[in-house]
Amino acid sequence: MDHFLYRDGALFAEDVPVAEIAAQVGTPFYLYSTATLTRHFRLFDEALHGMPHMVCYAMKAASNQAILKTLADCGAGMDVVSGGEYARAIAAGVPGDKIVFSGVGKTEEEMRTALTHGIRQFNLESEPEMERLNRVAISMGVVAPVTVRVNPDVDAKTHAKIATGKSENKFGIPIARAREVYARIAQMKGLKAVGIDVHIGSQLVDLEPYRLAFQKVGELTDALRADGHDIQRLDLGGGLGIPYTRGNEAPPLPMDYGNLIRETLGDKGCEIEIEPGRLVAGNAGIMVSQVVYVKSGEGRDFLILDGAMNDLIRPAMYDAHHDIVPVVEPAAGVEYQPYDIVGPVCESGDTFAKQRMMPPLAEGDLVAFRSAGAYGAVMASEYNSRPLIPEVLVNGDQFAVIRARPTFDEMINRDTLPEWL
Ligand code: LLP
Repeated sequence: MDHFLYRDGALFAEDVPVAEIAAQVGTPFYLYSTATLTRHFRLFDEALHGMPHMVCYAMKAASNQAILKTLADCGAGMDVVSGGEYARAIAAGVPGDKIVFSGVGKTEEEMRTALTHGIRQFNLESEPEMERLNRVAISMGVVAPVTVRVNPDVDAKTHAKIATGKSENKFGIPIARAREVYARIAQMKGLKAVGIDVHIGSQLVDLEPYRLAFQKVGELTDALRADGHDIQRLDLGGGLGIPYTRGNEAPPLPMDYGNLIRETLGDKGCEIEIEPGRLVAGNAGIMVSQVVYVKSGEGRDFLILDGAMNDLIRPAMYDAHHDIVPVVEPAAGVEYQPYDIVGPVCESGDTFAKQRMMPPLAEGDLVAFRSAGAYGAVMASEYNSRPLIPEVLVNGDQFAVIRARPTFDEMINRDTLPEWL
């Protein structure tokens, strides 16, 4: 459920007409709903009720300060994967002891920063990283809390580019080697193992891969405890999928996922951490764009929008489907027609949808890309020298620009000329 609905023939974001925001902000832009963000966060919180837990929002999905602050105010921790994300989390007021640090390439500088300002745990992804963090922590006279991200060799049955739990993926340490690695950590003065971490992929629409992975984590918990390790937390990653097509898809609900966790790991007496990103932010955001031209090609009509692949890369990168809806509600009985919906960037890959059935549209009409809140704005670039598009947050009947559109001068002035030019 989200809060982008038609009311009196027009698309609203909560209680604000989307067209009104477009008139003030200009297109294209991202638009988020506070009510949807907080609702989705709470669904996870409630799904884990009765178990000690922390929901660490995977801020890679959408990391605007206003979004982070909204979620932090609901009690969210954060899952970060870079020094930049760590700095954003701290800037949004998230205390260090609610931040978990994931990622395969943590640098010494990132480790030092997190150890200085506070960290709940590092999710270690390799032995070289383990050695380095140990050295860094010892040099600072501290002990770094860690989990080891184990790779359970489970097929997440999702798009190959976002599956992470198979043995051929770059993530984690093979689960078969975990006991050896924990034994090594126990000898290290700079590290303290506090739990186990696993994350098998993103946009999972089936719970079975989770069941397999969680069972393996449960067995490993028992084995490590028998070896004398103090396993207190289980970080189960993120990845729960969302419906991208209205009506046709019914991925598992956070409550089903929570029940599966309870069933497979609830008896371990561990604190459960999860790192959802897409389900929190995905359907809490839309991208609003305007039709620049309607062009009749050979046997097909193109809707050329002012939004492009640099603004929303998911269709070009993963062949992802986003529902695209007109901001003015189509009249009942109107005949739909197929369009290729494209952006102005000079690549054929700048295609959002092919032969998509839409009501007839004309120059100047507004459309909204649904389910664009996660991995939308954060993956944008300035390709074709198109400045990053603004982000806007709605809350009830109010809205605010939470990231302004840079001017061309601001974009150009980031470049500097060497003295010989
Ligand atoms: N935890 C870890 C360690 C992750 O790598 C990820 C996502 C998450 C949590 C959050 O997963 P989520 O709940 O959002 O599925 N750009 C791609 C998705 C990449 C996901 C990367 N890792 C897309 O647009 O589909």
